[in-house]
Amino acid sequence: MSFEPTPWRATVLTLFPEMFPGPLGVSLAGRALASGLWALEVCDIRDSATDKHRSVDDTPAGGGPGMVLRADVLAAAIDAADAGETRPRLVMSPRGRPLTQAKVAELAAGPGPLIVCGRFEGIDQRVIDARGLEEVSIGDYVLSGGEIAALALLDACVRLLPGVMGKQGSALEESFSDGLLEYPQYTRPQLFEDRPIPEILTSGDHAKVAAWRRAEAEKLTRARRPDLFATRPQPNRQKPPKSTTDG
Ligand code: ADE
Repeated sequence: MSFEPTPWRATVLTLFPEMFPGPLGVSLAGRALASGLWALEVCDIRDSATDKHRSVDDTPAGGGPGMVLRADVLAAAIDAADAGETRPRLVMSPRGRPLTQAKVAELAAGPGPLIVCGRFEGIDQRVIDARGLEEVSIGDYVLSGGEIAALALLDACVRLLPGVMGKQGSALEESFSDGLLEYPQYTRPQLFEDRPIPEILTSGDHAKVAAWRRAEAEKLTRARRPDLFATRPQPNRQKPPKSTTDG
């Protein structure tokens, strides 16, 4: 008898379940979802409301504008979705730690996260603390809710799952893992509105092409992302041969 291994599974808690799978239902992620390489479970937070109005939010303690997601309702939704499981529990929030490719790779290597999508002015801090939710941001701008942020995070994870990308993708990943932005790409036609493809790329000299690409990637990274450039891993250099006059 053969058992199918449990696929990587994401659980999303949201007030707008109709936003999922959304763009994750098409293209690479969508094909992988349909073929069972990963699973998506979507839970409506409102199903955990207990009053007759099914209310999930209330006014902020201490006053101020907007509404805050209630701790009791969200905790019940998390407990219903994740009984006794140990897996990352995230909440998408502009005040979270910025998402990085390293964090994406870590999540992709695990069992799959539970993700809470925030709405309103925020979430009662007590449920964040009591359920150990890790706040994650996808950038320094404010979206109207965590759903689009969750979709972005999941897309980044799913493309790293075994079997989702072909050889082409893994090769691309390797070239990105040198911590630089990608060099410019060109394809036919040879001449586009008086702009030719850089000559070196059609020279057939693989070493020169590689050196050109590396230099372009460094130039771009230095100009656009000085933070990344400063902390980039150095390419492996051969140790110089030991001098006989040493010591
Ligand atoms: N929710 C609203 N804005 C967000 C952001 N920038 N990142 C993650 N979640 C969010």
